[in-house]
Amino acid sequence: MKDSSPNAEEHGGLTIALSKGRILQDALPLLARAGVRPMQDPSRSRKLVLTTNQPDLRLLVVRAQDVPTYVEYGAADIGIAGKDVMMEYRGDGLYEPLDLNIACCRLVVAGRPGTPLGSPRLRVATKYVHTTRRYFAAQGIQAEVIKLYGSMELAPLMGLADVIVDLVDTGNTLRANGLAALAHVADISSQLVVNKAAMKMKHARIKRLIAKLARAVRD
Ligand code: ATP
Ligand code: PRP
Repeated sequence: MKDSSPNAEEHGGLTIALSKGRILQDALPLLARAGVRPMQDPSRSRKLVLTTNQPDLRLLVVRAQDVPTYVEYGAADIGIAGKDVMMEYRGDGLYEPLDLNIACCRLVVAGRPGTPLGSPRLRVATKYVHTTRRYFAAQGIQAEVIKLYGSMELAPLMGLADVIVDLVDTGNTLRANGLAALAHVADISSQLVVNKAAMKMKHARIKRLIAKLARAVRD
């Protein structure tokens, strides 16, 4: 039986990878303003390949951290990924032509108020291991980095780490757990990322979409 979801190369049109949750929620209105509307409701559908009102454009729903991987390997032509994910991603071969100014937040060092950051062998729990190592090395602080996959705020409370490096938006999660931001690492928003080969092979189509999205971001 013919596969109903050809891979990105066979598909010929454009394939955009993005993650469920915040990014999808913020990206859908932006895509709509750029003329792209999914045919199924992504919050209800269990489908991971969504067709859109544009017959040559489809959306893939993947884990946030997997977006750059799909795009680098050409399984998707384009992706929408947080700057936090891109800073942590170790591959290369991706263009980042447009800041979409959605899912905005900050990457911070957080801990109990007053925790000194200069103490020898500071223990830092985070999902962003590479970014955290780079940040503390640039500050001249020796840090032991412990990888966690979520609920980072628990680590200082349970004595697993002195501080965490995590995303903050409203600050509600930090406050609810008696923590505070201690240092700013980076401002975060979502980026459009593009596969380098696709940018050459599908140049006109991708440029048109970037232009429409850039207008949607401005308006
Ligand atoms: P997964 O659950 O699939 O491992 P995730 O928990 O990182 O991924 P989301 O919480 O939806 O997925 O976050 C996706 C992206 O949204 C992040 O990479 C970041 O760029 C942005 N983001 C995360 N938390 C916030 C927040 N509190 N406010 C605004 N943007 C956020
Ligand atoms: C993210 C982040 C913080 C929280 C910050 O978690 O890891 O915990 O949002 O947002 P706030 O400052 O508005 O409270 P998320 O809700 O994505 O849960 P996660 O632990 O699954 O990543």
